[in-house]
Amino acid sequence: MEFNWTFVFVSFITILFLLYLRKKYATTGGKRQPPAPPGWPVFGNLFNLGAMPHRTVAGLAAEYGPVISLKLGSVNTVAILSAKAATEFFKNHDLTFMERTITEASKSHGYDKSSLALAPYGMYWRVLRKICTVEMLVAKRINESIAVRRRCVDDMLTWIEKEADSSETGTGIHVAKFVFLSSFNLLGNLMLSRNLAGPDSKLASEFFTVMVGMMEWGGHPNISDLYPWLKWFDLQGVRKKMDRDVGKAIEIATGWVEERVEERKNGIDRHKDFLDVLLDYEGTGKDELEKMSERDITIFILEIFLAGSETTSSTVEWALSELLRAPDKMIRAKHELNSVIGSNEKLEESSIDNLPYLQAIIKETLRLHAPIPFLVPRKAAHDTDFMGYHILKDTQLFVNAWAIGRDPECWENPNSFEPERFLGSKVDYRGQHFELIPFGGGRRMCVGVPLAHRVLHLVLGSLLHEFDWELESHVKAETLDMNDKMGIVVRKREPLIAIPKKIKC
Ligand code: HEM
Repeated sequence: MEFNWTFVFVSFITILFLLYLRKKYATTGGKRQPPAPPGWPVFGNLFNLGAMPHRTVAGLAAEYGPVISLKLGSVNTVAILSAKAATEFFKNHDLTFMERTITEASKSHGYDKSSLALAPYGMYWRVLRKICTVEMLVAKRINESIAVRRRCVDDMLTWIEKEADSSETGTGIHVAKFVFLSSFNLLGNLMLSRNLAGPDSKLASEFFTVMVGMMEWGGHPNISDLYPWLKWFDLQGVRKKMDRDVGKAIEIATGWVEERVEERKNGIDRHKDFLDVLLDYEGTGKDELEKMSERDITIFILEIFLAGSETTSSTVEWALSELLRAPDKMIRAKHELNSVIGSNEKLEESSIDNLPYLQAIIKETLRLHAPIPFLVPRKAAHDTDFMGYHILKDTQLFVNAWAIGRDPECWENPNSFEPERFLGSKVDYRGQHFELIPFGGGRRMCVGVPLAHRVLHLVLGSLLHEFDWELESHVKAETLDMNDKMGIVVRKREPLIAIPKKIKC
């Protein structure tokens, strides 16, 4: 009998297809999963992502709709791409997705075990969250530290002026560098009552360097997260570098915590900062943590620096870049500042409420340039149904705040920078309006919003009020590079270099 190769081939393909269907139906019970762009064996949709995944994934909505599936290496992922789907998610499914995806880098020195942002939904998370929302990041305590923020912003303005004076005429400065240093110092003062950026201490500058390293490696795409069975090889060395930097950061911060514990034992009287709040914590009920360990406190301190410094500097850099491209809006903002606070006065936090145009600029910047475009990824605690789709337990979930900020169903001219759209509008970013979610939403929303709100307005407003800003002569506003680049935080690909001209009073 003649061997029929065609028959063998067709049978082989049919068996593979049936096996695939069996696997699919065994796990999803035949229920519909969110539509997925075609992927490659082993790699899945990795090649669909490109260098700016938030943009590429946003682009898939036109073809596949507002909820899509992606296979990233071996990781099942679902992405939410419209404001309507985000509203449904935060209102009705938040609880099912309270867990976070834990990356290999974040396991360094057990960081994830003491982190608030990565903590599983449970007692530890609840306690830390409560300390933040009731004790640390509340209006009363934030008001107590107004003078500290003013001093840090004044330092920043002085550094900028000095740098501009020492630069050649017509040469700009790297704006985000100064905002980053100032935000870092500000957090150092709020947390530990220490200046951590600047020439004051060798240890502080070492801490600054390793924290910058943590931000770099923490945001680096890592093969070990896509194929967990490869994690032992640490092919890109991400875990090794993270171990080095987290180890050093913990060592330095532990020293500061121990020093404080000693000071407190000796009854040294001082102004109460965030570290004191953490050391003072005592659980009340029987299902509460009794005390925070020094290890947990140390890691929490690192987390606040990670969460609050680059997010702030990136936002201010985007805002100033947008304003340099739109001189009429820059003039309007400066005019508002002059008429509300006067040309001889400094911007104080108490004036922020009276500066609607400045507020609109910050909202519009965060709408277009959410610093954490996929928020902090969530994970399904169990199999669940969402908008008619079945989502499997442990599926990673991205809420694409970048895509939602440009959802054409909510925003007219979604890609243009028009702060005016927020004048007279009630929409803001505090978690009630799901078309604007740069700080996330639901129970795991950013705890730093009250502080970030003050700092962003104070810093940007002061930069606009104290200086006139220009681009270098060879850069045209229309061709200013507005591309972004991924890290823990999405930043401008090309840093903004602009010339500050001190306004003489
Ligand atoms: C422009 C400034 C900031 C932006 C855009 C930002 C954005 C975010 C986002 C998107 C999340 C995840 C929310 C979610 O999963 O739904 C988050 C979480 C978090 N943020 Fe912020 N953040 C900023 C500033 C800050 C500051 C200043 C602090 C602290 C002082 C802070 C502390 C945290 C913490 C602790 C979490 C984890 C909350 C949890 O998992 O329960 N953030 N932030």
